Amino acid sequence: MNALLKDLAVPADSIHRERRARIAAAMASQGGGIAVLPTAPERQRNSDNDFPYRYDSHFHHLTGFAEPQSWLVLTSEGHSTLFCRAKDPEREIWDGFRLGPQAAPAVLGVDQAFPVEELDSRLPQLLADRQSLWFPFGVHADLLLRVEGWLAALRRRSREGLQVPSSQRDLNPLLDEMRLIKDEGELATMRRAAQISAGAHARAMRFCAARFRAGAASVLEYEIEAELLHEFRRHGAQSPAYQSIVAAGANACVLHYAAGDAPLRAGELCLIDAGCEFDGYASDVTRTFPADGRFTSAQRELYEIVLAAQKAAVAATRPGARQRDAHHAAVRVLAQGMLDCGLLDRQKAGDLDVVIEKAAYRQFYMHGTGHWIGRDVHDVGEYLSLDEAAVEDADGLGGKVVKKPSRILQPGMAVTLEPGLYVRPAEGVPERFWNIGIRIEDDAIVTPGGCELISRGVPVEPDEIEALMRG
Ligand code: GLY
Ligand code: MN
Ligand code: MN
Repeated sequence: MNALLKDLAVPADSIHRERRARIAAAMASQGGGIAVLPTAPERQRNSDNDFPYRYDSHFHHLTGFAEPQSWLVLTSEGHSTLFCRAKDPEREIWDGFRLGPQAAPAVLGVDQAFPVEELDSRLPQLLADRQSLWFPFGVHADLLLRVEGWLAALRRRSREGLQVPSSQRDLNPLLDEMRLIKDEGELATMRRAAQISAGAHARAMRFCAARFRAGAASVLEYEIEAELLHEFRRHGAQSPAYQSIVAAGANACVLHYAAGDAPLRAGELCLIDAGCEFDGYASDVTRTFPADGRFTSAQRELYEIVLAAQKAAVAATRPGARQRDAHHAAVRVLAQGMLDCGLLDRQKAGDLDVVIEKAAYRQFYMHGTGHWIGRDVHDVGEYLSLDEAAVEDADGLGGKVVKKPSRILQPGMAVTLEPGLYVRPAEGVPERFWNIGIRIEDDAIVTPGGCELISRGVPVEPDEIEALMRG
């Protein structure tokens, strides 16, 4: 194998082969068939300039192959076919190395490979006489049209005795379920991603502290974003896992605020929600810290509430608990805190149970407390129980809904725990809290005994944040 090939391709280790065998077996246990799985398309940014390419997570999970224009075809007996870009010396001068179909079986462990240009001519024959055709529903915009085309081509050949698959099945649940429980290799990669991100947050805190110590009147959000990016890339992370949020002062009350050019001033809080993607796995970390290294009393009062809510969420994250338990635990602490500090008026809002039942806390806490995390920052995986019946539950808005209970946690699942408080100016809301936005977010792996917080390489305790910024 030449050096280029060795560097760029994923080794033909057994992990992707083993994952393909597990998906084949899952299809076989549900009647068998053949699966077709494309990677992600290249996306135009403007003119002849594309967004940075990112492969499809399901596709990469089964192949380890990062090139665009690739397709995996897998039978329930475990036979695999890859379609990929043909070698092209001219294009490789411009765009870089291509593995090519000839080398693909040895490098990727697939049984056979063809140029992607042959996809439409070969697919009808591959699908013939298979009862079910499996593909991911609702992900790839043009896939249904392609499928229709292959089936139509096969139908036109029916007098040759070729049978058209009679059912179409969603491949997503099989892959979602597999990806929900991470193996040791995946967990090691996620720990590394979280560690890099934590280091980037610590760097941002130190950067701000140093700038204010040196007499700066303000630090711009994009300057802080640049520090994060620098730290991600210098440790080998390929990119941010999502658009970095760096929010100065009141901007922290905009949940999906993107780092802009607003000045962060002494006395304000800075909320950073940023995580890197490392070797295909996301991290998702939020810290909120005082720009100049000292929390004001109002900031600290609210910060302590959010931190207590996160501790409650952590305690509720263990095998046997439900994924949603962390949210309920955090909401109880946040709602109690809102009553205690006067964000909510006890006379008007009622006691804790009423605040929760009527969802009055949503004025200051309007998002969930966590989500699956893995290859995607909001990772795949069913949130509701797979094998329990629907029951009546509160809808979080003062009413009732009938739905399945949330999923019971088990070791190897990975979640975020991310409570917050966001105080927009409003009548009846104490002015000293106006425009304070706080979120604390860590990534957690469910372990046999509870959970492991993998992003704690940057502190969350307010005294420890102040100490780090002083140092
Ligand atoms: N950064 C996205 C999220 O926290 O869910
Ligand atoms: Mn998150
Ligand atoms: Mn986040």
